[in-house]
Amino acid sequence: MRDCWIAPSILSADFARLGEEVDAVVAAGADLIHFDVMDNHYVPNLTIGPLVCEALRKHGVKAPIDVHLMVKPVDRIVPDFAAAGATYISFHPEATEHVDRTLQLIRERGCKSGLVFNPATPLDWLEHVLEKVDLVLLMSVNPGFGGQQFIESVLPKIATVRSLIDRAGLKIRLEVDGGVKVANIRSIASAGADTFVAGSAIFGAADYAATISAMRREVANA
Ligand code: DX5
Ligand code: ZN
Repeated sequence: MRDCWIAPSILSADFARLGEEVDAVVAAGADLIHFDVMDNHYVPNLTIGPLVCEALRKHGVKAPIDVHLMVKPVDRIVPDFAAAGATYISFHPEATEHVDRTLQLIRERGCKSGLVFNPATPLDWLEHVLEKVDLVLLMSVNPGFGGQQFIESVLPKIATVRSLIDRAGLKIRLEVDGGVKVANIRSIASAGADTFVAGSAIFGAADYAATISAMRREVANA
């Protein structure tokens, strides 16, 4: 069985108490903290930047931070996130001029690199760069907002990426982001995902630990 990572998305956290919220999901069993960066340009919403990532590190957060860049351009901001304590930095290939260069930049700065695919983005971008990628993030909603409905047509796409990774024999995490809940996480795991972003499903729940455990149970039964 694949090791399952649950990544609560702080987009749905109470931003006025962000440090406590992150501590609470880590105590509840989160494996990594998903950090959504939106610029009101690549996506129609505006969120948080490197200063907030750095503030979480200064607050004492030790868990890996999974920075999901929904910004254009990408390269300008990568070094800032690396210096701010990001663990993974993922970006959308359409948002950068030179995908290979951006992947190299992320690793050069000491972070793990991720490539993100919108529901309608073809997987062709992966073909020549698979060895430079530590994580593939498949969007199961259109990026920009929490609380949207899971797009079912992403399930076969997950299976395609799973076989690509397995055939290549590379250690690449396969993450799914958008509309992930206790009720559908099992089918997402069955399709081949090993890393699960959940914003509203975790931060909208009364008991974070119970929700994360329920998700893990579902994944174990996949
Ligand atoms: C959407 C973000 C997601 C978002 C997911 O653009 O990338 O990470 O927080 O939220 P839920 O889990 O509520 O769909
Ligand atoms: Zn995200």
